[in-house]
Amino acid sequence: MRFLSFLSGAALVLAGCSNGLNILMSNDDGFGSGNLRELYKMLRADGHNVYIVAPATQQSSQGGRSVFTDEPMLTTNSIYDLVKAGAPSLGTDPIDTHIWYYNGTPAACVFVGLDYVLPNFADFSVPDLVVTGPNFGTNLGPFVWTLSGTAGAAYAATGRGIPAIALSGSNNAVPYFLVKNESSPAYLVASVANRVVKSIINSVPVSVLKRDVGETRTILPLGYGLNVNIPPLFADNYTNIQVVHTRMTGDADTNEAVPNPDKPGTFTWANIEPLAPGVNACINGNCTLPGETYVVNTLGLVSLSLYTVDYTAPESEETKEVVKWFTTGNVFTTSVKAMPIHKHSRRFTA
Ligand SMILES: *[C@@H]1O[C@H](CO)[C@@H](O)[C@H](O)[C@H]1NC(C)=O
Ligand SMILES: *[C@@H]1O[C@H](CO)[C@@H](O)[C@H](O)[C@H]1NC(C)=O
Ligand SMILES: *[C@@H]1O[C@H](CO)[C@@H](O)[C@H](O)[C@H]1NC(C)=O
Repeated sequence: MRFLSFLSGAALVLAGCSNGLNILMSNDDGFGSGNLRELYKMLRADGHNVYIVAPATQQSSQGGRSVFTDEPMLTTNSIYDLVKAGAPSLGTDPIDTHIWYYNGTPAACVFVGLDYVLPNFADFSVPDLVVTGPNFGTNLGPFVWTLSGTAGAAYAATGRGIPAIALSGSNNAVPYFLVKNESSPAYLVASVANRVVKSIINSVPVSVLKRDVGETRTILPLGYGLNVNIPPLFADNYTNIQVVHTRMTGDADTNEAVPNPDKPGTFTWANIEPLAPGVNACINGNCTLPGETYVVNTLGLVSLSLYTVDYTAPESEETKEVVKWFTTGNVFTTSVKAMPIHKHSRRFTA
């Protein structure tokens, strides 16, 4: 145990003031979000070099859509009127040049950050980590995972080879300038998010965190990211809230269409009851882990699920059976040898 505690102590030092990570943050609630700004301040206070590139306007439910504006100038005021119509579609916050807005979807903001803002305006080009959120409202289960812009920004980064953590809280939207003190829900959510991010970074072995000048740190295996959800928090006990290893499926919701009683001829949505089997099928990963929806909504604890960007079905008996049908039925009319690059999978290297 002495050896282990030595390692985590060393990792702590490495991630400390003089050796923080290069971090890009984004979200879907917009660059004026109280949650985003509180976590940004905390990550900077911990010695990380942090830039935000986040949507100029509210971009919830965009999932991983990558939409770039055709307009060089904003045609409406930004969120909370922080920047006025007529300003450039990409620019910095009026009072902080590390905070950028862009008039696009969350995934587009990540791409503009990676391909334009960081290379041209930061002292690093490729971040060690992308942190998205904390979102206003949870993002639980497979159905929401593909809808959420906070998730979309995270998996856009992971797809580019950058580890990402999507964070979501259970609090209501609040502009950053109304977060006045440490009793604000945005402060509580950011504190828990910061604690989780810090514990993740500190858990990474020194050999993995180590880098040569100009290299990025690989804090997660290639193509991996994390989805973290935070339940409602209470000022008197939020500091010791527990974090549980979860999976995305399990007690997960999905929608059903419901005729809208207030507007005949239209529909609205509801969470289907009983729970739908598809979003709760355990196909990948450890099926004995609890679902994130259960852990957050029922137990009131923090969930942490690992995701990968490889949506391909696993090499299971079910997959083999389907492939057998298709092969026997001549669905595949030819076969092609995989290029080595397609099998590329970089693991931790010292
Ligand atoms: C914190 O700020 C809120 C909102 O401005 C205010 O209502 C509350 O009284 C403040 N609490 C403390 C302890 O200052
Ligand atoms: C925290 O406090 C709230 C309300 O005071 C309570 O409902 C909740 O169960 C507490 N959580 C823990 C983990 O103690
Ligand atoms: C699956 O998760 C359970 C519960 O956390 C754990 O005890 C078990 O070791 C895990 N199995 C594998 C193969 O990782």
